[in-house]
This record gives sequence, structure tokens and C-alpha cells, in this order.
Amino acid sequence: MAIKTILLMAQTLDGKIARHADHFPDWTGKADKQLFVRLTRRAGAIIMGSKTYDTIGKPLPGRRNIVMTRNPSRVSQWENLIYTSQSPQVILEGLEDEGFNEVVLAGGARINTLFAENGLIDEVMVTITPMIFGSGIAMFEKGVGGRLSLLRVIPIDPERVCLHYRFIDTTQETG
Ligand SMILES: NC(=O)c1ccc[n+]([C@@H]2O[C@H](COP(=O)([O-])OP(=O)(O)OC[C@H]3O[C@@H](n4cnc5c(N)ncnc54)[C@H](OP(=O)(O)O)[C@@H]3O)[C@@H](O)[C@H]2O)c1
Repeated sequence: MAIKTILLMAQTLDGKIARHADHFPDWTGKADKQLFVRLTRRAGAIIMGSKTYDTIGKPLPGRRNIVMTRNPSRVSQWENLIYTSQSPQVILEGLEDEGFNEVVLAGGARINTLFAENGLIDEVMVTITPMIFGSGIAMFEKGVGGRLSLLRVIPIDPERVCLHYRFIDTTQETG
């Protein structure tokens, strides 16, 4: 597929993206938020699961917001927000047909897993925040595996680095 899918996540040192499903992402830091805004504006489109969207509560301005849900009672009141139950493949084909070159995949774990299972993630950018949650939600759910190659290490503030990887392949349950 010509469109590039970049998974963009903030993660604790012990590999958690949230303490629980409705955990508001107020721990990721200003520099990570700026990186998020810059990359999502560059792409012009962002895909997320309904639980992640609910922690934000409104669409990100100036970008196409695609929210995955299987709940037909969700109806968008915003011109730049689409609720969809289409498969990841169909969503990406639609964006590609409209001329998008890249899209940011913005979580959460369920939706990340759906894309990874179908081999539809090209790159991963993960900002490591020096915190430990001990328990919580990981970037992917059980059963997903893969191999990646490091492209860049980007220091984004004195406390955080963003690790930029390219997916080599997706496998199930690598050892
Ligand atoms: N640290 C970070 O960078 C970061 C980034 C993103 C999210 N998060 C955190 O991750 C947590 C949410 O993750 P999550 O895994 O619980 O939820 P999620 O992936 O955001 O959303 C899951 C929801 O997506 C919908 N869905 C699932 N499969 C689908 C399919 N095949 N087609 C269409 N829709 C489908 C369902 O919604 P319906 O019930 O509406 O059908 C499901 O409840 C939040 O705490 C959030 O803050 C952290």
C-alpha cells in the first residue's frame, strides 16, 4: 500500500500507554504533545479507537479524524470527524484514494493490534516518558509480534526520547 501508516505513541518506561481505558493522557509532556501535533498536521489524517477518542472528547482541528467504532448510534457532529466500522485495510485504501500520503495511527491498544495483525503499520514512533505505572495498557494486546529496525533516536526534551522504528515484519507470538 502506498500510504504510510505511522503508529505514534507515548509510553512509560515499563511499556504502558495508559493506566486504564479512560485514563486521560496528561502525563506525556508538552514536547510529546508538540510532536504529536506536528506529525498529525503533516499527515492530515489520524485514526484512533473510540475509547481513545473518548479520552480526548473532540476532534483535532485541521485534520481528518477517523474514529473506529462498531456502535451505530455514534453520529458525528463535526465535519472533520468520521465514525467508521470499516476494516483498517478499507480505511487506508479510502485515504489513499483521496490523496493522503501518510496517516497517524494514534491508538489505543485494541486498534493498534487490529492494524498490526494485518501487517498495516509501516513505522512506529514511541516517546519514552520516565514513569512507571506497574500495571496498565500496553501498546499492543496479546498475540501480536514483530521485528523492527531503528531509524532515529530523537531527544524531544531533557527527560524524553522518541524512538523511531520501521516495521520489518509482523509475526504472531515471536519468542
Ligand atoms: N499513551 C499514548 O500514546 C496513548 C495513545 C492512544 C491511546 N492511549 C490510551 O489507550 C486507552 C484506550 O485503549 P483501548 O485499547 O482500551 O481502546 P481503543 O483501541 O482506543 O478503542 C477500542 C474501541 O474501538 C472499537 N473497535 C474495536 N474493534 C473494532 C473494529 N474491528 N472495528 C471498529 N471499531 C472497533 C470499539 O469501540 P465501540 O465500543 O465504540 O464499538 C472498542 O471499544 C486510553 O486510556 C487512552 O488514553 C494512550
